[in-house]
Amino acid sequence: MYPLRRNRRLRTNEAIRSLVKETIITPNDFLVPLFVVEGKGVKEEIASMPNYFRYSLDLLENEVKELWKLGLKSVLLFVKVPDNLKDNQGKEALNSNGLMQRAIKTVKNVCPDMLVMTDVALDPYSCYGHDGIVQNGMVLNDETSEFLANMSVSHAQAGADFVAPSDMMDGRILSIREALEQEGFINTGIMSYSAKYASAFYGPFRDALDSAPVDMVDIPKDKKTYQMDYANRIEAIKETEMDIEEGADIVMVKPGLCYLDIVREIRDAVDVPVAVYQVSGEYAMIKAAAEKGWLNHDAVMMEQVTAIKRAGADIIASYFAKDVVKLIS
Ligand code: PBG
Repeated sequence: MYPLRRNRRLRTNEAIRSLVKETIITPNDFLVPLFVVEGKGVKEEIASMPNYFRYSLDLLENEVKELWKLGLKSVLLFVKVPDNLKDNQGKEALNSNGLMQRAIKTVKNVCPDMLVMTDVALDPYSCYGHDGIVQNGMVLNDETSEFLANMSVSHAQAGADFVAPSDMMDGRILSIREALEQEGFINTGIMSYSAKYASAFYGPFRDALDSAPVDMVDIPKDKKTYQMDYANRIEAIKETEMDIEEGADIVMVKPGLCYLDIVREIRDAVDVPVAVYQVSGEYAMIKAAAEKGWLNHDAVMMEQVTAIKRAGADIIASYFAKDVVKLIS
């Protein structure tokens, strides 16, 4: 007697393994998040995100050139807004000469072919650290959506290729699409954070932008009235289908690793590209364990990004993009 099928034949050596490998990671898979700050000559490491930095615009130029050389052709911009410019309405977000608007121009200037996506949400601009306007202890939905539409137009005017609303207000994709069309930005795309969970993995990101919800009376302590409950699966499909109906070109699942069941389900359910955001906490966990010598950094990093792609991600937004590309090139 012998086993009818010896599956191990296909695992015998590196050559046969690479021949039958189903999921291959390339630079084209990645969208690179970038954090931007005011100032000159600033490259500050984010405490809870080792080896990840905030750049002032002058140093952003070098970073963008380096990404392009590595074959990384898409960036997702986030700005750290000075405290004195924050308010409840997020007014500074509409400043045509604001940090985001200048950052978009900076990237397009040094690297015209780089795809520029921008974060559209109030939290970096909000004195309360919320993704919308707060009133009577609530985050207002429709007023916020209208604001996000104006913010998107402002980003498009500055030269953004795609806007990426990360707020989870109901109906905001429709508001944004309508506003972009009305202003003639018919080719400006929308990547919607469509299934975004209220996750404890966003902690380091909120350090990076100093954007955590404040602890004050009458201000919601967390984002659970707009971001999704991580216990839920069905509403992820509903949210995603609605965003596509409203005009989203790309949809997203966020975070990554804990949500790969959702990624697979959405990939099978929809006909637009699916992005997955491997978030700051996922990055921090690997960095911390590797620093202690408890995990092999590169091996775990590759295992995670490959698993995200295998689950169905067409696009991976990841702080590891550069590390991965350097490793595989
Ligand atoms: C907020 C926003 C968050 C992230 C992207 N956009 C945090 C939040 O919702 O509080 C998180 C990204 C990360 O953790 O890497 N609009």
